[in-house]
Amino acid sequence: MEVDVCPFTSREQYAGVVRYFVQASDAFLYGMGADRAKLPSADEWLRLLLEDHEKPDEQKERVYFAWLYHGTQVGHSSLGNIRAGEDAFIHLHLWVPALRRAGLGTEFFKRSVALSIERFALKRVFCEPRAENLAPNRVLEKAGFTFVRRYRTVPGAINYEQDVNRWVYEGRPR
Ligand SMILES: CC(C)(COP(=O)(O)OP(=O)(O)OC[C@H]1O[C@@H](n2cnc3c(N)ncnc32)[C@H](O)[C@@H]1OP(=O)(O)O)[C@@H](O)C(=O)NCCC(=O)NCCS
Repeated sequence: MEVDVCPFTSREQYAGVVRYFVQASDAFLYGMGADRAKLPSADEWLRLLLEDHEKPDEQKERVYFAWLYHGTQVGHSSLGNIRAGEDAFIHLHLWVPALRRAGLGTEFFKRSVALSIERFALKRVFCEPRAENLAPNRVLEKAGFTFVRRYRTVPGAINYEQDVNRWVYEGRPR
């Protein structure tokens, strides 16, 4: 299949996530709200990701989904702050610049949301991109998310203080 989304299974997939962030330019990181100074070292980060992968779902800090294009991983989404049966926060990253702006991110993202809802019986999925980061905000709108509010926060451990837009997807009742 041209486009597929599957849960992470291998060390190499996590290494790909670490490379994506650690090898990114400062400008790229800034654009998506991340601060290089806050990134863990590559080795430590990979160790933490692999440790989390081994935990049962209910104890996991995050769950990762691979974005596969013609069988090759070209991005990922991750799900954090998971409250099974309730809600979680999703993230989206198309690693390959040449593949951006062709509709793929939206397609991968929609599938990641569906898999997340199914796996954790979620009623709601939240996403909070940096308000000035146009691409994810547009993807969310196209994927059927509803804009909730804009506010200032430090969204996570690798982020600086910024305005984010909160979006929500209300999963169908099960
Ligand atoms: C966010 C991301 C996954 C979107 O994937 P993508 O394949 O580029 O998105 P799509 O091609 O599906 O585009 C969806 C919409 O966003 C718009 N869009 C995409 N990139 C854009 C950009 N840089 N500026 C403005 N609009 C943009 C597209 O035009 C399209 O809208 P349209 O149909 O009205 O024209 C990808 O751009 C990415 O990984 N960016 C870097 C990481 C990042 O910022 N992640 C978000 C962290 S919160």
